[in-house]
Amino acid sequence: AIESGVAKTKITDWAAYEVELQKRIGVDHKLMNRILSKAKKDPKRVVFAEADNVKILKAAQMVIDEGIAKPILLGNKTKIDELINEHQLDIEGCEIIDTFQQDKKREEFGKMFYEKRKRKGVTEYEAVKLMRDRNYFGSMMVEVGEADAMISGLTKDYPKTVRPALEIIGPEPGKRVAGMYILFTSKGTFFFSDTTVNTNPTVDQLVDIIGLTARGAKFFGIDPRMAMLSYSNFGSSKGDIPYKVSKAREIAKERWPNLVIDGDIQANIAVNKELLTETYPFSELAEKGANTFIFPNLESGNIAYKLLMELGNAEAIGPILMGMNKPVHILQLGSSIREIVNMVAIAVVDAQIQNNQISI
Ligand code: ACO
Repeated sequence: AIESGVAKTKITDWAAYEVELQKRIGVDHKLMNRILSKAKKDPKRVVFAEADNVKILKAAQMVIDEGIAKPILLGNKTKIDELINEHQLDIEGCEIIDTFQQDKKREEFGKMFYEKRKRKGVTEYEAVKLMRDRNYFGSMMVEVGEADAMISGLTKDYPKTVRPALEIIGPEPGKRVAGMYILFTSKGTFFFSDTTVNTNPTVDQLVDIIGLTARGAKFFGIDPRMAMLSYSNFGSSKGDIPYKVSKAREIAKERWPNLVIDGDIQANIAVNKELLTETYPFSELAEKGANTFIFPNLESGNIAYKLLMELGNAEAIGPILMGMNKPVHILQLGSSIREIVNMVAIAVVDAQIQNNQISI
């Protein structure tokens, strides 16, 4: 198995990966393969902020072997070398940066960070000190163009990992940042958003999330059919949530008239074409059902995808961070090697095409 094996023999490992992927509930293989082959056409420099971790190192070897990315490893050099030896990894030629041995660079990045954040309560001393944190250092590398993308989050909780990226790289001008998951289920492929960032989005923030998610689905070559999820169907119940999601839908339709988007709608109705056609034939989702879910808040989005992963045996890819000014992707705590490799490929393609080139 990929998780326990030595990642030295590349063909065997990759084949095992593919077989495993196929065995599980008929994952939309094409979708991820498209991303993997795009990545291989122009592999980018991806900084791995947690390289003193064996899973990260194995993922690094896989992406090198497969020509998906050019990893830059951030971490304690001694520990990384020990892990490479212990697990017989073959990642020679990969750049390793031990941030603790980079006094000059930390000073340089710290001063730049201070310039960015001096009116946000950060002192120069603190700014330089923060560069010991590899999420800050790695984000600075992406910001100044010393790397094309960053991957982190395997070992730290999400807010601690995303905050440095938000402070240094920030969102695309005028955009919200949000997180999307792709779930491969026995009933097909679905996009879930926002599952990771905005705790309680306002109407306007939901509109931003709709735009980002539509773009996110198109990034994977899929036309989104979006459901604004609630506990009500088209005004059947009153309340803050039905109001919020239907108002966001109304504004989004004005902004992007061609987007297929409807709601407020309950989750089971949104995916049940028969019920939809029978009861709500006027709905834009009636014929085909939804393939993209916009949740009213973080609780519902996060809980829904995690339940589906654990109980529905759904394979997931994500969280895909959308709306950042430069590509940063935050892994789910404890991601598998397979998940890390997927996220690296996504980060590479993200760096190749720049999201804002995808029109919705
Ligand atoms: N979009 C754009 N910019 C943002 C966003 C956003 N969604 N959130 C914060 N920012 C900006 C802030 O405006 C701020 O900008 P400024 O300081 O330059 O003016 C900057 O980013 C720093 O943000 P903070 O003030 O530290 O923002 P906040 O305290 O809101 O923290 C965070 C942001 C960490 C994302 C917070 O919203 C959060 O904890 N969200 C939930 C994360 C979480 O727990 N997810 C679930 C688990 S993840 C999983 O299951 C895989």
